[in-house]
Order: sequence, then C-alpha cells, then structure tokens
Amino acid sequence: MLKEQINKDNIPKHVAIIMDGNGRWAKQQGFIRTLGHKTGSKSLKKIIKESSDIGIEYLTLYAFSTENWNRPKLEVDTLMKVLINTLKKELKTMLEDNVKMNAIGNLDKLPENAQKQLFEVIEKTKDNTKLTITLALSYGSREELVNAVRIISDKVKNNIISIDNIDDSIINEHLYTHNLPDVDLLIRTSGEYRISNFLLWQIAYSELYFTDVLWPDFKEKDLHQAIIAYQKRERRFGKTSEQIK
Ligand code: FPP
Repeated sequence: MLKEQINKDNIPKHVAIIMDGNGRWAKQQGFIRTLGHKTGSKSLKKIIKESSDIGIEYLTLYAFSTENWNRPKLEVDTLMKVLINTLKKELKTMLEDNVKMNAIGNLDKLPENAQKQLFEVIEKTKDNTKLTITLALSYGSREELVNAVRIISDKVKNNIISIDNIDDSIINEHLYTHNLPDVDLLIRTSGEYRISNFLLWQIAYSELYFTDVLWPDFKEKDLHQAIIAYQKRERRFGKTSEQIK
C-alpha cells in the first residue's frame, strides 16, 4: 500500500491542486463536458476526506478561474450548479469531520445563489479546525496582486503605511490568502505543465508535482503518490544542501 510509505513526520501542511482534465475525461468517455465536472466533484469529495485523514491542514483548490467566465454559458451554469449542490450536500460531512470552508477570488462576480450557499457554509464551519479547504472561485493571481497593490497604494496615500515599510509580509497581508500559510506542494492533473494564473506569489518555494491522470480519475492513491514524491524532495529555500542538514 502506497499510504504506508508516507512519512507522517513530513506531511505538507498546505497542498494546492489545479483540478484539470474534466472536459477531456468526459470526451474520452463519450460524454458531454459538463458531466466531467460532475464527476470531478466526486474526486474532490474523496480527496478532501483523504487529505484530512493524512493530516494535511490546508487544501486549496482551483475550482473556477477569472478566465473560465469566457466558457460557453451552459458550462459556466453547470459549474455553478455543481458548486451549489456540492456545498449543500457536503455541509453535514464538513461539520462532522471538523472541516472549515474558506474561499478566495472575486466572489462578488458569482451568481447570488452561489454566493449565498458559499457564505452559509463558510459561516457554519468557521470554528472548525482540522482541515481548511479554500475554494478559488473567480480567482486569478494577477487580479489578486493588482487588488493588493491598489489597497497598499491607498494606504500609502493616506499615511497608513510608509513606502519604506512595504515588504513581503505587507504584500502577504493584502492577498486573498492572507490567513493561509505558503503552499508546500502544488499538484496539477491532466498532463499540462502550466500554473495558469494560480497563486503566483504563494508558490514561490512550493514543490511542483504534475501527473497525467485526469481530475475525475484522481484517486486517494494518486494523492499518496504525490505526497511520497514531495517527501523525496530536498527543500533548500535557496540554501545549500549542507546548510539545511
Ligand atoms: C478543469 O477542467 C476544471 C475546471 C475548470 C473546474 C473544476 C471543477 C470541479 C472539479 C468541479 C467541482 C468543483 C466544486 C467547487 C464543487 P477542464 O474543464 O479545463 O478540462 P479540460 O482541460 O480537459 O477541458
């Protein structure tokens, strides 16, 4: 069993996933694309449960990008429906499993019923402590950075921050992810080797793991494999191998 090979003393605290390949999976099976997203939500449920079991504390999922608004209306509508239904269905399990829901992105752009459902789950799970799930919805990393620059500039203009004090931590505090630690491991499924405007600042020192498996086929064993690969890496953070031993 792959799971037994996982070193429990070196679990990545924060894992982020680009859940890619739903459309191609559906096409391969002869289904319409939207069925790929519905099946993808089942993978998500399994991976959340397994992440919690392994001891991952933060799981951040790229569910809908700023660019995804340009997809055909039927697909966008289906993704919103899948989001709403998943949130509705999973609330009970999240409460039982001590899972906290969080969201990042330009959430105002989501349809009202999706916002309502999302904020309800966030509110009801806010005191949970075992695993924090962050859904990136209508999220784009460049937009997040532009937004941070605007807020910081405004604070400089109003003498709340001085230019000399702007450093890494000030920028961090103004990102949507201000309450999350840096990402340790970023996984992308479906054989694409891109970051696609996801957490550009936050992955500065993340380990990157790419797999050909399409998201609807991504199972617990695939997560185990990613973690085992992560544990074989030497994270030097710019130092030499000798310095970190
Ligand atoms: C990428 O596959 C996936 C998405 C754009 C959406 C991810 C959404 C889910 C996994 C559904 C569940 C989400 C929630 C929040 C409940 P793609 O459509 O780009 O696939 P392709 O590259 O093969 O076309």
